[in-house]
Amino acid sequence: MSAGSIATAAYTVASLLFILSLAGLSKHTSAKHGWTYGVAGMAIALAATIGLTVHDSPVRGTAVAFLVIAVLAGAAIGLWRARVVRMTGMPELIALLHSFVGLAAVLVGWASYLEVEQNGSGEAGGFTGSLLRIHHAEVFIGVFIGAVTFTGSIVANLKLSARIKSSPLMLPGKNMLNVGALVLFAVLTVVFVGHPSLWAIVTVTVLALALGWHLVVSIGGGDMPVVVSMLNSYSGWAAAASGFLLDNDLLIVTGALVGSSGAYLSYLMCTAMNRSFLSVISGGFGLEAPGGGEKEYGEHRETSVGETASMLADASTVVITPGYGMAVAQAQYPVAELVRTLRERGVDVRFAVHPVAGRLPGHMNVLLAEAKVPYDIVLEMDEINDDLATTDVVLVIGANDTVNPAAADDPTSPIAGMPVLRVWEAAHVVVFKRSMATGYAGVQNPLFFRDNTQMLFGDARTQVEHILHALASAGTTARTGREAELDPVP
Ligand code: TAP
Repeated sequence: MSAGSIATAAYTVASLLFILSLAGLSKHTSAKHGWTYGVAGMAIALAATIGLTVHDSPVRGTAVAFLVIAVLAGAAIGLWRARVVRMTGMPELIALLHSFVGLAAVLVGWASYLEVEQNGSGEAGGFTGSLLRIHHAEVFIGVFIGAVTFTGSIVANLKLSARIKSSPLMLPGKNMLNVGALVLFAVLTVVFVGHPSLWAIVTVTVLALALGWHLVVSIGGGDMPVVVSMLNSYSGWAAAASGFLLDNDLLIVTGALVGSSGAYLSYLMCTAMNRSFLSVISGGFGLEAPGGGEKEYGEHRETSVGETASMLADASTVVITPGYGMAVAQAQYPVAELVRTLRERGVDVRFAVHPVAGRLPGHMNVLLAEAKVPYDIVLEMDEINDDLATTDVVLVIGANDTVNPAAADDPTSPIAGMPVLRVWEAAHVVVFKRSMATGYAGVQNPLFFRDNTQMLFGDARTQVEHILHALASAGTTARTGREAELDPVP
């Protein structure tokens, strides 16, 4: 059997493992198996690629040396980043990784163009006639998708790490700029396929870098989850384009898997957030600048740990809506403990999880699973929203945009139309956060000023721990009642 056939067989097995991995990762219960399939697929793919490269290389020693250096350096950096990254820093790391895929696609496209040109317009490189034109189209489209992914992902990384503002940049005529760039790309592609030239490939690289930057910088904070999955999809298509140029079937299959699953995830997120898929993937096409001016909502009311513990002890039904602040504070462990304590006292406690709470799809589910909260009390927004009106107490722990009534009531709000958890319908709402600061979308939250809302300021983890202490000190009776003697706590 030739080295090429062994590599093809290995690539086929790796592709199947990647498909099994995606299927496994789609459910809590099978996620660990999905992860194992993914790792096994990647190990087989790497081994086959290294073996094939070494076998085919006319300069074996040099090829092995380069591969060893690249694999060791990549593995060391990857392991180090994966070990030190905090869960809340994952989205920005993922955005950075997408940018590498984009950059790699640009470099592969350029290398392939230069190699073919060097060989006398491809004749010596084995390309003739229509094959040569297909190659030119692959180079051009690969460079375009790669460059859009590269700068788009860098902007996403800067926005997610709060190094630039998350609010959308509204350049005059921004929709026309995007449409104009796409039309120019189409014209340049036709020109390049007919007469490949350096100026055309330089122009498309610069154009795509600018377009990638503009597409993502024009999207508001509330729509960033869709942007991240959209860039994930673009990085897949960029990898598939590189696969065509490198004649690597595995890269084509894997790129198509990432591209299509990312596109489908973006579509699902748009549906969940009541956004137009086409508008978001085209950089907020058709969206107008949000209504200006800060509104006056009046005064907020503060509460204390003792009052909150007392309110919880009196309640029959409690719903907890976690958000990004719970992740920052790592409050999931005391929150899980609070849930156990309240359930032992006969209180019905459930979680309401918004699809984009936190900074990653499924972020809250992962944190709650980590703290061993039973799956059956963790409900999705659609499953629990109608029950909130009959709930005694809602604890909003580090959530903000996902419980903002302006999304439902104020058509001029930048997050207007986004479905939110209707926590304000409950009898009492306690909001755990450190200040009156806005959430990720930068929008003030009128929930904080409602009559049935009280603010419990401070770090979420510390405050939940104090509540646990207060409940424990209140005695061992099953239901203490509001008049129970609670320890004097902050
Ligand atoms: P956010 O709107 O981001 O608000 C989080 C709140 O947590 C902040 O208001 C902050 O207020 C509070 N907080 C931070 N650290 C805290 C701590 N140590 N203790 C207590 N509170 C703390 O949260 P959300 O409701 O989860 O909404 C998520 C937002 O991120 C949405 O706009 C969503 O579109 C966006 N986003 C989501 C994703 C995905 S896929 N989930 C990806 C990118 C962007 P203080 O500073 O006053 O404490």
